[in-house]
Amino acid sequence: MSELLHRKLERSAIGLVLAIIAAASVGGIVEIAPLFTIDGTVEEAPDMRVYTPLELAGRNIYIREGCYACHSQMIRTLRDEVERYGPYSLAVESQYDRPMLWGSKRTGPDLARVGGKYSDFWHVAHLSNPRDVVPESNMPAYAWLARTPLRMEDLPRHLEAQRALGVPYTEEMIENAARDAYGQAMPDGDFATGVSERYGEATQVRAFDGVTTQVTEMDALVAYLQILGRLTVAAYQDTAAPEKAPDPAN
Ligand code: HEC
Repeated sequence: MSELLHRKLERSAIGLVLAIIAAASVGGIVEIAPLFTIDGTVEEAPDMRVYTPLELAGRNIYIREGCYACHSQMIRTLRDEVERYGPYSLAVESQYDRPMLWGSKRTGPDLARVGGKYSDFWHVAHLSNPRDVVPESNMPAYAWLARTPLRMEDLPRHLEAQRALGVPYTEEMIENAARDAYGQAMPDGDFATGVSERYGEATQVRAFDGVTTQVTEMDALVAYLQILGRLTVAAYQDTAAPEKAPDPAN
C-alpha cells in the first residue's frame, strides 16, 4: 500500500513538491513556534541592568581578543556544571548581550559566573601572564592590555549601536559614555558619581587594574569580567540558596 502511494507520488511532480513543502513546514513550525511565546519563557529580572560603558568596552576587548574561542558563558542545567560553576544560566541574563557570547567550546572554564570569584589583582596578574598564578595554564598572555590606554571617544557610538539593537540606553547614558567609562575606573575623580547615578549604587567603581593614573584596556576587561553573572540575582532565586547570591557592590 505505502509502496504504491510512494510510487504514485514520485511520478507526480506537483504532488511531490507539495509533499516536500508539507514535510519541511513541520520542521519550520517546530523551530519557529517557540519564538511566539518568548515573552512568557524569558524569566523576569526587574533588577537587571545594562552594561556600563567601561564594561561594554571590556566586552568589546573580550570579543576582539577572541576569548570566546576558549571560554563559554553559559552554564548548562547538568548537575556537574551547576556544582562547578553555580546556578545554570537563564535566558534573561544575556538579554543585553549583543552579540551573545554563549560559546560552545571550552578550552578554559565557563566564565558566566566568574564575577567576584577572584580579586582584580588576580585578574591583572592572570591576564598579564596566566602561568604566574596557574602554572599549568595554556592560556595566552595579554600583558599589553595594562599598557594600552582605553579608547573612549567612540564609546557613545558603541552605546548607540547597542540601543539600535534594543538595549535600553538612554540619551543621557550615550552622551556621558566616555565620562562614565573614565569615572568608573577613577574612583577619586570628578566623574565617578555620575556612573552610580546612571547605572545604580551597586555599580563597582574602582581602579580595576590597580593604577589610578590612566584608564587602560586592562581596566575595561577586568571591569567586564567582574560583572559577569552579577547583572541580576534572578538565577539565584529558586535554583540555589538566595543568601549565596552575589552582592554586585563588592
Ligand atoms: C587558548 C585558549 C584560551 C584563550 C584564548 C583564553 N583563555 Fe582564559 N583560560 C584558558 C584556560 C585553559 C584556563 C584555565 C587555566 C587558567 O586559569 O589559566 C583559563 C582561565 C581563565 C580564567 C579563570 C577562570 C576560572 O574560573 O578560574 C579567566 C577569568 C580567563 N581565562 C579569562 C580569559 C580572557 C578574558 C581571555 C581573553 C583576553 C581568555 N581567557 C582567553 C584558556 C584560554
